[in-house]
Amino acid sequence: MEATAARRSAFALARSRPLPRFRRTGRLNDLLIYRGYSFPTAYSGSAFIAFHGSWNRAPFPQGGYNVVFQPLAGGKSSANYVVFADGFAGAKKEPGEAAHRPSGVAAGPDGSLYISDDQKGRIWRVTFHGDSKTTGITAAPSPTVVNETTGSVGGDAQPPEGIHPNAGSAAAANLPTPPGQTKDQVALGAEIFHGQNGATCTGCHGTNAKGTPLGPDLTAKHWLWGDGSVPSIAQTITNGVPNPKNYRSSMSPMGGAQLTPRDVLALADYVWALNNQNEAKD
Ligand code: HEC
Repeated sequence: MEATAARRSAFALARSRPLPRFRRTGRLNDLLIYRGYSFPTAYSGSAFIAFHGSWNRAPFPQGGYNVVFQPLAGGKSSANYVVFADGFAGAKKEPGEAAHRPSGVAAGPDGSLYISDDQKGRIWRVTFHGDSKTTGITAAPSPTVVNETTGSVGGDAQPPEGIHPNAGSAAAANLPTPPGQTKDQVALGAEIFHGQNGATCTGCHGTNAKGTPLGPDLTAKHWLWGDGSVPSIAQTITNGVPNPKNYRSSMSPMGGAQLTPRDVLALADYVWALNNQNEAKD
């Protein structure tokens, strides 16, 4: 496969001539020269590098546990790297304690970027939605620093899907709140929908909930099961859909995850909110 071949040669290149900037930093785990077409053109032909995280990094700032983007020209670095995705480690940047450790990067046939984690086995799929002629490269938001004394963590030291502006609670910020529910519930539902607590909703319904070949659009206000009320959506999520009307494969109860009734209610609030955006009064 093309991607694999590109990755091999890129990896060999990185080994024989390490980019000085990365030499003493978090452990370089995988490198991919991006040849897909779905990211902005500024990304093509340059490298995504997964840093697995290092134990003893002081005093260097690059502690790993992230994916960086290194602009390349003619096989050499042509500009400073930027942190592309961050926040994998969560509260503790230590090998045994990190929530996630990026271990691999690969490109899908559609040009999306996959990042794997060998701590908990999670896979992230990074897609780009916007003008592909964009030339600017912007860094990921930095995760919040942990307070070493109290151990407390800032609110956004979450895996990247939680802090990325297009995902998780940020996506819920402008959504309406179902009657009798809270904004926090909707935000929690958004987090769970995007993978928190082991849920896999996005795998079938898509990151934007607008459907994939495995599951329907959940934003179209068109209900095959129930009446679109929060309780009926919660019931569908709890029971799953053993005999789909329009899809070949079924949806397992809770999409196959182990969720509490509170999680399910939060998900139902989020799905309801996705379908009632225009009715929002404030
Ligand atoms: C394995 C794929 C898969 C996963 C994972 C999955 N779903 Fe589904 N979902 C489906 C299919 C298939 C249907 C039924 C569509 C049909 O009947 O044609 C469905 C239906 C639904 C419906 C009912 C839509 C309607 O028209 O009434 C809701 C709500 C829903 N899913 C929410 C979720 C949530 C929330 C999650 C995560 C906890 C989830 N799903 C996980 C495949 C999936």
